[in-house]
Amino acid sequence: MKAELAVIGGLGLQLDGLPEEVRTPYGPVQVLPARLKDRDILFVPRHGEPHLPPHKVNYRGIIWALKESGVARVISANTVGSMSCHPVGSYFLPVDFVEFTHSRSNTFFEDRAVHVDMSIPYCPELRSCLKSALLSLGQKPSAGVYVCTEGPHLESPAQIRMLRQVGDVVGMTGYPEVALAREACLCYASLCLVTNPACGLAGPGDLLASDISEMIRKSSERTLEIISRAVELIPQRRSCRCQEALSGAII
Ligand code: HPA
Repeated sequence: MKAELAVIGGLGLQLDGLPEEVRTPYGPVQVLPARLKDRDILFVPRHGEPHLPPHKVNYRGIIWALKESGVARVISANTVGSMSCHPVGSYFLPVDFVEFTHSRSNTFFEDRAVHVDMSIPYCPELRSCLKSALLSLGQKPSAGVYVCTEGPHLESPAQIRMLRQVGDVVGMTGYPEVALAREACLCYASLCLVTNPACGLAGPGDLLASDISEMIRKSSERTLEIISRAVELIPQRRSCRCQEALSGAII
């Protein structure tokens, strides 16, 4: 099926429907055609089945499959730990990112010098739809810099002391998705659920992992409601410049 909008779902986010397989140069990807607020969308469960850890997700396959299916705009759902006292259960909208991954293929252009512009990594138009959706549901989102770590382990206290010098929240799935979406000239915005204070920022000796899964489970309906509301607000025509992301990038 073809659709103009897509949602990449992280942990806990599910939609009903019959998955279809899209073949890509990076292997098959399951996409699920669905309807949200009277609009056709494609839903992709990022971690697939069986559930893949963040460093094994087929990021290139997912973005390729969406482009191939006619998608122009992507909302991505991620979970993060806060490095700046954001309340657990609140939402964060990245405007920029820093990444510390090391095993992930981060380009479609393996053998050519293509340097895609990253000065506006997240689509401002899509982000503002997410922000309006959040506000209309009584949520006060924060915004700032998303730091992506390789995982799969959570960070150490010293790592967080370093990372909080450069960013506001930390997660494992936002990169290279954002960069690949840009290479594909897609509008891309991320809705991050704050599931925990980052390591070392809660009480001493607090273990984070079980709190994270509990928070994800508790918030999944609300996250879907926010995304549905945002989908309703997305204008038919794109007025951002994401579709020109590759102009001048091919050397
Ligand atoms: N670190 C990395 N990824 C995460 C975290 C975290 O604290 N919380 C949710 N995803």
